[in-house]
Amino acid sequence: MNFLIYILLILFIIFDVVIIFISIEQMIHIIMNHAPSISAGLKSRQAIIDEIIKDFPNAKTIIDIGSGWGTMVNAVAKKNPNIKATGVEIMLAPFLFSYISALFKKNVKFVFGDAFKYLKNTNNKFDIGVAYLLSSEMKDVEKFLSNFDVLLALDFPIPNLEPIKKIRLHKDIIKQHWLYVYKK
Ligand SMILES: C[S@@+](CC[C@H](N)C(=O)[O-])C[C@H]1O[C@@H](n2cnc3c(N)ncnc32)[C@H](O)[C@@H]1O
Repeated sequence: MNFLIYILLILFIIFDVVIIFISIEQMIHIIMNHAPSISAGLKSRQAIIDEIIKDFPNAKTIIDIGSGWGTMVNAVAKKNPNIKATGVEIMLAPFLFSYISALFKKNVKFVFGDAFKYLKNTNNKFDIGVAYLLSSEMKDVEKFLSNFDVLLALDFPIPNLEPIKKIRLHKDIIKQHWLYVYKK
Protein backbone atom coordinates (compact mmCIF):
# COMPACT_ATOMS: atom_id res chain seq x y z
CA MET A 1 0.00 0.00 0.00
CA ASN A 2 2.79 2.39 1.03
CA PHE A 3 4.64 1.49 -2.16
CA LEU A 4 1.61 2.47 -4.28
CA ILE A 5 1.35 5.82 -2.48
CA TYR A 6 5.06 6.49 -3.13
CA ILE A 7 4.62 5.69 -6.85
CA LEU A 8 1.56 7.99 -7.07
CA LEU A 9 3.46 10.72 -5.24
CA ILE A 10 6.43 10.44 -7.62
CA LEU A 11 4.10 10.51 -10.67
CA PHE A 12 2.35 13.55 -9.24
CA ILE A 13 5.67 15.35 -8.68
CA ILE A 14 6.86 14.49 -12.24
CA PHE A 15 3.55 15.77 -13.63
CA ASP A 16 3.90 19.03 -11.67
CA VAL A 17 7.51 19.53 -12.79
CA VAL A 18 6.50 19.02 -16.44
CA ILE A 19 3.60 21.47 -16.17
CA ILE A 20 5.82 24.07 -14.46
CA PHE A 21 8.52 23.60 -17.12
CA ILE A 22 5.97 24.01 -19.97
CA SER A 23 4.49 27.14 -18.35
CA ILE A 24 7.89 28.78 -17.75
CA GLU A 25 9.06 27.92 -21.27
CA GLN A 26 5.89 29.42 -22.78
CA MET A 27 6.26 32.59 -20.68
CA ILE A 28 9.92 33.05 -21.66
CA HIS A 29 9.09 32.69 -25.37
CA ILE A 30 6.11 35.03 -25.18
CA ILE A 31 8.44 37.62 -23.63
CA MET A 32 10.80 36.95 -26.57
CA ASN A 33 7.90 37.77 -28.90
CA HIS A 34 7.32 34.21 -30.09
CA ALA A 35 3.76 32.98 -30.57
CA PRO A 36 2.53 30.72 -27.76
CA SER A 37 2.11 27.03 -28.60
CA ILE A 38 -1.60 27.13 -29.29
CA SER A 39 -2.59 24.63 -31.96
CA ALA A 40 -4.76 25.85 -34.81
CA GLY A 41 -8.35 24.74 -34.22
CA LEU A 42 -9.87 21.74 -35.95
CA LYS A 43 -11.79 23.89 -38.46
CA SER A 44 -8.71 25.96 -39.33
CA ARG A 45 -6.65 22.80 -39.80
CA GLN A 46 -9.35 21.37 -42.04
CA ALA A 47 -9.46 24.61 -44.06
CA ILE A 48 -5.73 24.34 -44.73
CA ILE A 49 -6.09 20.68 -45.74
CA ASP A 50 -9.01 21.58 -48.06
CA GLU A 51 -7.04 24.44 -49.62
CA ILE A 52 -4.09 22.13 -50.33
CA ILE A 53 -6.32 19.46 -51.88
CA LYS A 54 -8.24 22.03 -53.95
CA ASP A 55 -5.54 24.39 -55.21
CA PHE A 56 -2.22 22.60 -54.68
CA PRO A 57 -2.96 18.89 -55.23
CA ASN A 58 0.52 18.26 -56.65
CA ALA A 59 2.36 19.60 -53.60
CA LYS A 60 5.01 17.18 -52.41
CA THR A 61 6.60 19.08 -49.52
CA ILE A 62 5.21 21.27 -46.77
CA ILE A 63 6.80 23.04 -43.82
CA ASP A 64 5.04 24.38 -40.73
CA ILE A 65 7.01 27.38 -39.47
CA GLY A 66 6.52 26.99 -35.74
CA SER A 67 4.88 23.58 -35.56
CA GLY A 68 3.91 23.68 -31.87
CA TRP A 69 2.60 20.31 -30.66
CA GLY A 70 2.66 18.97 -34.24
CA THR A 71 -1.09 18.79 -34.80
CA MET A 72 -1.06 20.71 -38.11
CA VAL A 73 1.86 18.75 -39.60
CA ASN A 74 0.42 15.41 -38.49
CA ALA A 75 -3.06 16.24 -39.81
CA VAL A 76 -1.78 17.41 -43.22
CA ALA A 77 0.52 14.39 -43.57
CA LYS A 78 -2.28 12.00 -42.65
CA LYS A 79 -4.66 13.42 -45.28
CA ASN A 80 -1.92 13.64 -47.93
CA PRO A 81 0.29 10.56 -47.58
CA ASN A 82 2.31 11.65 -50.64
CA ILE A 83 3.39 14.88 -48.96
CA LYS A 84 6.60 15.06 -46.96
CA ALA A 85 5.71 17.27 -43.98
CA THR A 86 8.30 19.09 -41.87
CA GLY A 87 7.65 21.04 -38.70
CA VAL A 88 10.18 23.32 -37.04
CA GLU A 89 9.58 24.29 -33.42
CA ILE A 90 11.62 26.49 -31.11
CA MET A 91 10.16 25.37 -27.77
CA LEU A 92 11.46 22.13 -26.27
CA ALA A 93 8.31 20.72 -24.68
CA PRO A 94 6.04 21.01 -27.75
CA PHE A 95 8.89 19.82 -29.98
CA LEU A 96 9.47 16.68 -27.88
CA PHE A 97 5.74 15.95 -27.87
CA SER A 98 5.52 16.32 -31.67
CA TYR A 99 8.74 14.34 -32.20
CA ILE A 100 7.37 11.40 -30.23
CA SER A 101 4.02 11.64 -32.05
CA ALA A 102 5.82 11.16 -35.38
CA LEU A 103 8.27 8.41 -34.41
CA PHE A 104 6.61 5.85 -36.66
CA LYS A 105 5.41 8.16 -39.43
CA LYS A 106 7.44 7.99 -42.61
CA ASN A 107 6.36 11.27 -44.20
CA VAL A 108 6.65 13.47 -41.09
CA LYS A 109 9.75 15.12 -39.66
CA PHE A 110 10.09 17.53 -36.73
CA VAL A 111 13.14 19.72 -36.24
CA PHE A 112 14.06 21.55 -33.03
CA GLY A 113 15.19 25.16 -33.37
CA ASP A 114 14.49 28.56 -34.84
CA ALA A 115 12.51 28.10 -38.06
CA PHE A 116 14.03 31.22 -39.61
CA LYS A 117 17.57 29.94 -39.03
CA TYR A 118 16.47 26.59 -40.44
CA LEU A 119 15.04 28.23 -43.57
CA LYS A 120 18.19 30.30 -43.97
CA ASN A 121 20.49 27.28 -43.73
CA THR A 122 18.54 24.69 -45.68
CA ASN A 123 18.88 24.31 -49.41
CA ASN A 124 15.44 22.74 -49.54
CA LYS A 125 12.58 24.58 -51.17
CA PHE A 126 9.09 23.69 -50.04
CA ASP A 127 5.97 23.54 -52.17
CA ILE A 128 3.94 24.92 -49.28
CA GLY A 129 4.84 26.91 -46.19
CA VAL A 130 2.34 27.22 -43.34
CA ALA A 131 2.50 29.89 -40.66
CA TYR A 132 0.32 30.52 -37.62
CA LEU A 133 2.46 33.11 -35.86
CA LEU A 134 2.25 36.59 -34.38
CA SER A 135 1.98 39.59 -36.75
CA SER A 136 5.45 40.69 -35.65
CA GLU A 137 6.89 37.31 -36.73
CA MET A 138 5.06 37.43 -40.07
CA LYS A 139 7.46 40.22 -41.11
CA ASP A 140 10.29 37.68 -40.79
CA VAL A 141 8.28 35.09 -42.72
CA GLU A 142 8.14 37.54 -45.63
CA LYS A 143 11.96 37.43 -45.94
CA PHE A 144 11.73 33.70 -46.67
CA LEU A 145 8.85 33.75 -49.16
CA SER A 146 11.18 32.56 -51.92
CA ASN A 147 11.67 29.31 -49.93
CA PHE A 148 8.09 28.29 -50.78
CA ASP A 149 5.97 28.07 -53.90
CA VAL A 150 3.09 29.23 -51.80
CA LEU A 151 2.61 30.38 -48.21
CA LEU A 152 -0.59 29.76 -46.25
CA ALA A 153 -0.85 32.15 -43.31
CA LEU A 154 -3.52 31.49 -40.74
CA ASP A 155 -5.20 34.50 -39.08
CA PHE A 156 -2.13 36.75 -39.13
CA PRO A 157 -1.29 38.23 -42.54
CA ILE A 158 2.09 39.49 -43.65
CA PRO A 159 1.92 43.24 -42.93
CA ASN A 160 1.79 45.43 -46.05
CA LEU A 161 1.81 42.54 -48.52
CA GLU A 162 -1.26 41.76 -50.59
CA PRO A 163 -2.17 38.05 -50.56
CA ILE A 164 -3.17 36.42 -53.87
CA LYS A 165 -6.18 35.05 -52.03
CA LYS A 166 -7.92 35.79 -48.74
CA ILE A 167 -10.26 33.03 -47.57
CA ARG A 168 -12.92 33.76 -45.00
CA LEU A 169 -13.05 30.83 -42.58
CA HIS A 170 -15.38 30.20 -39.64
CA LYS A 171 -16.21 32.62 -36.86
CA ASP A 172 -16.02 31.53 -33.23
CA ILE A 173 -16.51 33.30 -29.91
CA ILE A 174 -13.01 34.77 -30.15
CA LYS A 175 -12.84 36.04 -33.72
CA GLN A 176 -13.40 35.67 -37.43
CA HIS A 177 -10.70 33.37 -38.82
CA TRP A 178 -8.95 33.98 -42.13
CA LEU A 179 -6.54 32.13 -44.35
CA TYR A 180 -4.14 34.25 -46.44
CA VAL A 181 -2.45 32.78 -49.49
CA TYR A 182 0.84 34.35 -50.66
CA LYS A 183 2.97 33.65 -53.68
CA LYS A 184 6.39 35.23 -54.31
C1 LIG B 1 0.34 29.41 -32.59
S1 LIG B 1 1.48 28.05 -32.53
C2 LIG B 1 1.09 27.22 -34.02
C3 LIG B 1 1.33 25.74 -33.94
C4 LIG B 1 1.04 24.98 -35.23
N1 LIG B 1 1.64 25.61 -36.37
C5 LIG B 1 -0.43 24.83 -35.47
O1 LIG B 1 -0.94 25.49 -36.36
O2 LIG B 1 -1.08 24.07 -34.77
C6 LIG B 1 3.00 28.88 -32.93
C7 LIG B 1 4.25 28.05 -32.62
O3 LIG B 1 5.35 28.63 -33.31
C8 LIG B 1 6.50 28.51 -32.50
N2 LIG B 1 7.45 29.53 -32.96
C9 LIG B 1 7.36 30.86 -32.85
N3 LIG B 1 8.42 31.45 -33.41
C10 LIG B 1 9.21 30.45 -33.88
C11 LIG B 1 10.45 30.40 -34.55
N4 LIG B 1 11.12 31.52 -34.87
N5 LIG B 1 10.97 29.19 -34.88
C12 LIG B 1 10.33 28.04 -34.56
N6 LIG B 1 9.15 28.03 -33.91
C13 LIG B 1 8.59 29.20 -33.58
C14 LIG B 1 5.99 28.75 -31.10
O4 LIG B 1 6.88 28.19 -30.16
C15 LIG B 1 4.64 28.03 -31.17
O5 LIG B 1 4.74 26.71 -30.73
